[in-house]
Amino acid sequence: MEKKSKLYIETYGCQMNFSDSEIVASVLEKDDFALVDEAGQADLILLNTCSIRDKAEQRIWKRLEHLHALKKKNSALKIGIIGCMAERLKEELLSGKNAVDLIAGPDAYRDLPQLVREMESGQKAANVLLSLEETYDDIQPVRYHSNGISAFVSIMRGCENFCTYCVVPFTRGKERSRSAQTIIRECTELQQKGFKEVTLLGQNVNSYRQSDENGNEIGFAQLLQKVADAAPGMRIRFTTSHPKDLPDELLHVIANNKNICKAIHLAMQSGSSVVLERMNRKYSREFYLERIVSARRIIPDVAVSTDIIAGFCGETEEDHKETLSAMREAAFEYAFMFKYSKRPGTIAAKKFDDDVSDEVKTRRLEEIIATQQELSMQSNRRDVGKTFEVLVEGVSKKSKTQLFGRNSQNKVVVFENNGFNAGDFVEVKIKDCTSATLIGELVSFYCQ
Ligand code: 5AD
Ligand code: SF4
Repeated sequence: MEKKSKLYIETYGCQMNFSDSEIVASVLEKDDFALVDEAGQADLILLNTCSIRDKAEQRIWKRLEHLHALKKKNSALKIGIIGCMAERLKEELLSGKNAVDLIAGPDAYRDLPQLVREMESGQKAANVLLSLEETYDDIQPVRYHSNGISAFVSIMRGCENFCTYCVVPFTRGKERSRSAQTIIRECTELQQKGFKEVTLLGQNVNSYRQSDENGNEIGFAQLLQKVADAAPGMRIRFTTSHPKDLPDELLHVIANNKNICKAIHLAMQSGSSVVLERMNRKYSREFYLERIVSARRIIPDVAVSTDIIAGFCGETEEDHKETLSAMREAAFEYAFMFKYSKRPGTIAAKKFDDDVSDEVKTRRLEEIIATQQELSMQSNRRDVGKTFEVLVEGVSKKSKTQLFGRNSQNKVVVFENNGFNAGDFVEVKIKDCTSATLIGELVSFYCQ
């Protein structure tokens, strides 16, 4: 048998990157590569990278140093950088002591076989062209990240919101939506293969715009309804939504479909209208909080998670207090919280001073984290006594005698291991909790 080249992909950053790596694996498997799960076995190592904060990029530079040590032992080894950092730092990555052999931006993955050939002929290979159309919609991802139960399905790419702090519109280009037919086909195929959960992915899923098989314009609410109808045996999740366009119509679709999960991720970023304006978020504190009130009214059992940035340019102590109070008003179930990191090339880097000291950013972030921990604990305490449908994901990491899974609200639930398997749906009554986990007892189970 002919020897296949061995490919190892390491993925950093958001779920979109994890989903993209599965596209990359598919493109290169067709080109006679075989995936391996250890860097040490590979002929080609690709790092799928993230540029969202400076820390994410620093991690990659460190990793490159380490990989170059491997290269010294194995001169045939090739190293490539793909994804956002490739897009942003092509020149730097192709030169210097840790120079890489191949660079591919997020819209250039179809070109990888060609780039590999260039690289193998001894040249440096690079493609960082952004596209107006590329959605990889005909490529069947190799689902090597998946546990066979949950899968990501990318529905749109790029972002043109231009939040002033954010590098994504520069690294991932213009917004474009994948055809509804191919999304629905992928979801039904996943259901046939026994998957139980699908997450529709995009930088801003509410901006989804495409036409259906009859040529009618459809937006995200209609797409979600179609997916829910086409895959009734699967849980449907989606991420991420922009607060400026979370219409009631979409909230009603979530409320009216049992298989659409009652969880919304709605990045607030700041609770101060002045800061939100400087961030170019296109909504005020009041508008945001009203959307949360509507979500909780229309979907009474909804869980709301968010992203928050501490210490954006010009943020005063008063602005920070407004973030803390907005968090309490919104009563978030969960939050991803970050210190502001200045990104070269963004509007904020050009127009505003990064004038909040690192010390103050750290202290504000700590206060935000402490507030969220309190809110998560309160939310979990409200769940004690309730019964939830849980999709089992596996044996709990802390104790072999317990299983863990998630409820529709995306909260982790642990309960005694009664011999169920990953992929089973069970009903669990909540008896206790921590701020991160619900602890329950099995009530009943059903096969699907
Ligand atoms: N600094 C800190 N956090 C950022 N995010 C995006 N850009 C930055 C930045 N420059 C956060 C936002 C976004 C999440 C994915 O990352 O909160 O919603
Ligand atoms: Fe970045 Fe804003 Fe687009 Fe999100 S919506 S990717 S924060 S520019």
